[in-house]
Amino acid sequence: MTDHAHHAAVIGWPIHQSLSPVIHHHWFEKTGLDGIYHAVAVAPDSLAAEIARFRAEGYAGFNVTVPHKEAIILYLDKLAPLARQMGAVNTVKIEEDGTLTGFNTDGMGLITHLKETVSDWPKDKPALILGAGGAARAAALGLINENVPMVMITNRTRARAETLAQEVGRGRMAVVDWDDRETAVSAAGLIVNTTTLGMIGQPALALNLDSAASDTVVYDIVYKPLLTPLLARAKARGLRVVDGLGMLVHQGAKAFKIWFGEDVGYDEDLKALM
Ligand code: ATR
Repeated sequence: MTDHAHHAAVIGWPIHQSLSPVIHHHWFEKTGLDGIYHAVAVAPDSLAAEIARFRAEGYAGFNVTVPHKEAIILYLDKLAPLARQMGAVNTVKIEEDGTLTGFNTDGMGLITHLKETVSDWPKDKPALILGAGGAARAAALGLINENVPMVMITNRTRARAETLAQEVGRGRMAVVDWDDRETAVSAAGLIVNTTTLGMIGQPALALNLDSAASDTVVYDIVYKPLLTPLLARAKARGLRVVDGLGMLVHQGAKAFKIWFGEDVGYDEDLKALM
């Protein structure tokens, strides 16, 4: 590239619906950095070629989304501890000498947004996670690292929840059968939905919140729609809720810091823009 702008990107397959370019361009404007954030559709068989192009063109780094979060590891020189624990990478930094380091900022993004939205969330109580995919893993690791006493996890396919608990639980995770998930509600200080249920075009998550304590916080990582049926029910019940958009913004802010060294966040202008 002949210009002196800062370049970063997000790679995925497909990629067209990504909100990340809007978020990062907002931060370029805010910080005064001359930058471009590209959304690039990269098929699995062109991953290596695309990384080589980013390197050759002096990119600061790139975000990685579905389906490349695990496959990318093969091409990296170094892995940050959280990315290693996750077994997945969502942010890559390209050093000036071309060295590639993988990070995972998803769990930190989730926790930062939680703390920012509900600063006094009941972290001395067990948390309940629904789902066992990559987002559930990020949530579980984030909460374990926050020293939550116990993380209960429930998933339609129980074996995936068991594997996740074994891999990241450090003896502080318990698997609850999907059919028994409501029995875990009363003990939970935090309930996190990481399944796709509640997303536009998907059925709502069936979870009766009647037995929840009055200080329970309900977090849904689904952000299309922003107010999912689960969050609407929680609100109607008088519970505090956290929506999924902030996690996306905060994991992006951590990537921006890694690439450009600038502190950015979920400021009021960005909230209005979203
Ligand atoms: P990600 O990595 O983005 O978190 P994923 O691996 O596709 O996504 O996980 C989606 C989650 O939603 C899984 O926990 C999935 O349950 P299974 O492991 O049993 O597939 C859950 N999920 C999707 N559709 C569901 C449904 N109709 N009922 C219950 N859980 C569902």
